This record gives sequence, structure tokens and C-alpha cells, in this order.
Amino acid sequence: MKSIENLGNIENRSVILRLDLNVPIKNGKITDSNRIDKVMPTLEFLLKKKAKIIIISHVGRPKGKIVNELSLEPVLIYLKDKLKKKISLVKENIFNLDKKDIFKNTNEKLALIENIRFYPEEESNDENFSQKLASLGEIYVNDAFSCSHRNHASVSKITKYIPSYSGFQINSEVDALNKITSEITKPVTCIIGGSKISSKINIIKNLIPRFNNIIIVGAMANNIFKFQGLNIGNSIYEKGIGNIIQEIFLYAEKNNCKIYFPKDAKTGKKLNDTSVEKDLRDIENDDIILDVGSKTLVEIKKIIDVSSTILWNGPLGYFENQHFSQGSYEVAKYIASKGEKIFSVVGGGDTVAVINSLKINKKFNFVSTAGGAFLEYLEGKDLPGIKALN
Ligand code: 3PG
Repeated sequence: MKSIENLGNIENRSVILRLDLNVPIKNGKITDSNRIDKVMPTLEFLLKKKAKIIIISHVGRPKGKIVNELSLEPVLIYLKDKLKKKISLVKENIFNLDKKDIFKNTNEKLALIENIRFYPEEESNDENFSQKLASLGEIYVNDAFSCSHRNHASVSKITKYIPSYSGFQINSEVDALNKITSEITKPVTCIIGGSKISSKINIIKNLIPRFNNIIIVGAMANNIFKFQGLNIGNSIYEKGIGNIIQEIFLYAEKNNCKIYFPKDAKTGKKLNDTSVEKDLRDIENDDIILDVGSKTLVEIKKIIDVSSTILWNGPLGYFENQHFSQGSYEVAKYIASKGEKIFSVVGGGDTVAVINSLKINKKFNFVSTAGGAFLEYLEGKDLPGIKALN
């Protein structure tokens, strides 16, 4: 990858900077700013070089429609405060936008384009859209490792039309993950949780030959319960993936990889409920599984005890409600307590938010901003965003 360090004089030249500012936002306020803080060196570098910066990012999954709750407005407020600079939010339709419309006067240096996923053409990696985006600047920089596994216009196809470079954060993530994957010591345990079932379920199968234990938790585990014929009440799950679950178990057996999943759960009737611990056979039709139970936690800790490397992506439950945060918090604290005995790597917006809120992030060997991209990198896949830069 050509890094931004190699950029010569870019004074007053327009740089399109793809960032992943997909941070957790509650009631219009950012609850964990880690992903924004991590790209500050790139922003500061470009500002020092007196470039004009057009930031592109997404938040959430608006599926090609304007969703006001998924505006980048809270991110804009945070960035303005952090950089102590004026930044404009560009809300005009990109197709009607001309390069000269972005910076209204010569002193303006920063513009933030409203959520790029408001355009269906972003996710379809549309040729015209990519070309239009590229026409807004002169240089493209990708510093969004955590969405470089997406074959999207502002991550991938844009690089066809404009000289493209990697940012500091992407460089450091790739360097660290290369080192980790080449020097990994067994037994390796991978904990996979969270609610992005469709993005991760296929990855699990490919991780099996590389790892000794895979612990499936969070909403990911609901599909296993369903596959086993258990009632999961109103819990979220992904339809039509019974075959994949079956393949995961067969493939794991063949490769001597143990698959663990929860034995009990904490449930509520709604997301803001208090928790009731239940055996999985006792889940009622109006229950939602929102965390692992205490028997499961004991088992997970035993697996951690016999692991040399732990890779963790995705919370164990709905940690945003304190009544369902115990699973994620206890596992985070337990891994951290192992110190030098375990090589620990954590990835993903929510998982990093968990360890940040406990202020134990320094106790992990590497903290990646990426979730899905982190898992796909571990899988050994070529990430479209990285491939495009090479
Ligand atoms: C993430 O949060 O992992 C990235 O921002 C990518 O989001 P996505 O899974 O919605 O593509």
C-alpha cells in the first residue's frame, strides 16, 4: 500500500478521506469515541500539510435511504470540538454536487459528507457513483480499516479513478494483525458474539482450521439454540442458516476445533427490562435472550484458563443495559486479569466500547477498531479495501 507519508506537497489540494466514524450513538450523543480518536493522526497530518479534506463515512445500516437518526451530525460536533476547526456538513445530493461547491471560501479546510450509506450506490459499489465521488477530490486516502472488508464505492471502486493512499490507522492495524497471525501461539480461543449474525456466521467456518476453541455467544448463539430445537422466544436470529450451523459442527469435529455455546441465559421481556436467569429449556415465548447466564460464564473462564491466545470480537449480551452487561464485563475483566500469561486481541466497535468503559484497554495486547474486518483478516481473506490500495 502507498502510505500518506509518501505524499509530497498537497497544499490546497483536495483529499477525499474515507474514515469509519461508525461509533455508538445514544440519544444523539457519542457513547464511545475510540474510532474517531484513532484517526486523529491522519487528520492532523493532512491538516499540517494544508490539504483540503473531504471526509466520507457511514454510520449504521440505513440501507440506501435517508434515516435522520443515522445522520453524522453528532460526529460533526465531536470532530469540531476535537480539532477546534470549522467543519461543514455536506447534505446536498452527491450527484448534484460539484468540486467547487464543497468549500465555499479559500480558508475552509474540512468538510464532512453526510452518511454515505444514504445512497444505495455506495453498497452496490456503483461505477458512476464511485466516479462521481472521485471527481470531488484529487487524492483519495483510506483510513477505515474496520470497513475495508466491504466492497463498497467509497472503500473500493473509487480507487479506480484517483491516486489512492492508506492512512496511519489502516497501516498500523494491518501491521499488527500480520504480526499476530504469523506469531500466534496455540491453544487459540476465539470468542465471537454480537448481533451481526449474517456478517459473521460464514466466517466462523473458515476460522475453524486455525483455532482450537470457538466460543459463540451473543445473538450469534440464538441460531444454535434454534438449530437444536430450543424455544428462543422473541430473541433475534437469522432465518435460513440451519445448514451453515450443521456444517460448522461437522467441520469443527473434522478439524479438532471445539465449539462452545451458552448453557444458560439472562432474559428480559424487552430491551430495557431487568434480567431473569434461565435454563435454555425454560425460555418463554415473550422472552428475549439478552446475556449469558452464570453457568456459561464459569465454562468460558475455564476455557480462557487453558488458552495461550484469545481473540475476541462481539459482546456476550446487550451490555448497553447494565442488567445484561455481566457476561461481557466479566469476560473482559477475566482476560485482562491474565496479564502476560495470555496474548489477547480484541476487535470491534462494541467490544472495544466494553473494555474502554472498564478502562482496561491497556491490558490487552492489541485492540483493533475493526469487528467484521478483523475476523475476515484472521480468516486470511483479501479485504476489498486493502486490495484496492495495493
Ligand atoms: C463496523 O462497525 O464493523 C463497520 O463500521 C462496518 O459496518 P457494517 O458491518 O455495517 O458494514
